[in-house]
Amino acid sequence: MMDVDEKQTVESKRILELLFSYMPKIAAERKMDNLLVLMADLGRAMVSADRCSLWLVDEENGELWTKVAHGVSELRIPQNAGFAGCTVITGEPLLIKDAYLDPRFDRRSDEKTHYHTKSVLTVPLMDSIGNVMGVFQAINKQGEVQEFTEQDLEHLRLTAVYSAKTVESAMLTAELEATQREIIHTLGEASEYRSQETGDHIQRVAETSRKLAEYLKLPPEEVEKIHLAAPMHDLGKIAIPDAVLNKPGKLTEEEYAIMKTHAELGFKMLCNSKRKLLRFAANVSRAHHERWDGKGYPLGLKGESIPLAGRICAVADVLDALASYRCYKAPWPEEKVKEEFIKMSGSQFQPEIVDALIEHWDEVFACYRVQANPEDGDIRR
Ligand code: C2E
Ligand code: SIN
Ligand code: SIN
Ligand code: FE
Ligand code: FE
Repeated sequence: MMDVDEKQTVESKRILELLFSYMPKIAAERKMDNLLVLMADLGRAMVSADRCSLWLVDEENGELWTKVAHGVSELRIPQNAGFAGCTVITGEPLLIKDAYLDPRFDRRSDEKTHYHTKSVLTVPLMDSIGNVMGVFQAINKQGEVQEFTEQDLEHLRLTAVYSAKTVESAMLTAELEATQREIIHTLGEASEYRSQETGDHIQRVAETSRKLAEYLKLPPEEVEKIHLAAPMHDLGKIAIPDAVLNKPGKLTEEEYAIMKTHAELGFKMLCNSKRKLLRFAANVSRAHHERWDGKGYPLGLKGESIPLAGRICAVADVLDALASYRCYKAPWPEEKVKEEFIKMSGSQFQPEIVDALIEHWDEVFACYRVQANPEDGDIRR
């Protein structure tokens, strides 16, 4: 029989081993979703709970959200719901023996998941200036006595303190990335803003570019870079005079020459950026009107000397131009669009990219079938 001191020593050793086994995994993980799962696993092991989750406050939506397992979509609850919500509001931990005897218990998730919650332990996750940014919630203590102890509370607190910095920096990274995305999107929209085209041409060119990059089996980071850069391909159009940009009908040769400067203009606007991604977008902008046969502009590059992202964006861009309404043309029928790509394969476009487009035609073209139906009220002017 171990005495109390011995038991304590064994327990401390177990806790240390747990922390040390999780530390490298947590340190190596940068994605918030995976961090939440890892830290919840650590918390669960620390206090021997059946379940444990790390809920984060989403102030914008007044919700708490979490990720319970890899590959499962996120869960969301109102920010003030149940024990977790209570801890968010008070900043105090809760040690509950029987949830169903407590009026603060929110039974809805048990009802939804056919689970029976009994004992509950919550501790707040504090950021570096003392705000509650989330809450650890452990449910159903395992073992003989199915109740959490003061010591479990201390262990979960330790987990929370240990997790806080990591979560905070992951949140900052996520915030910065979201900010970048928003700026990128705004830049894309800026080029659309002045032209009379409605709808989401920019978004469709971005989506089609992403899909084509995927079909061509580019590495995921390249796919993502192309997806992010494509919305900016026509940024240079913001410098094109209105009379040219929105002219109904055919451009004169002079006007077309002005219009064609948009590719180089977009490049100049972005090429001095400190951000690699924006410099990448600069190259996409300059390359998106080059042609595989070398008869494009502004440089007249040929074949593989055209940046790949530009070759991909060119196909997505022309697909959008042909399939949608423009101030100078009506949408083409689907079959005619498809035939045009087959016809232009090897001259205007790289054959491999056209092949990928044709092979996945239904998937790519689906977004244009909706707007081609006048009954949707989406056919313009
Ligand atoms: P956009 O409307 O987004 O068109 C993008 C590209 O789609 C065009 O670049 C061209 O490469 C392709 N495209 C358009 N029509 C056809 C076609 O019938 N067959 C084939 N194979 N490709 C086609 P492009 O020609 O360099 O034009 C750049 C931009 O100049 C266009 O962007 C549009 O904003 C403007 N634009 C071009 N032609 C006219 C025009 O006749 N009138 C007016 N108002 N604008 C024009
Ligand atoms: C033009 O020369 O006016 C534009 C030709 C085109 O739409 O490609
Ligand atoms: C890139 O490949 O990410 C762009 C390279 C650069 O513009 O420096
Ligand atoms: Fe363009
Ligand atoms: Fe375009």
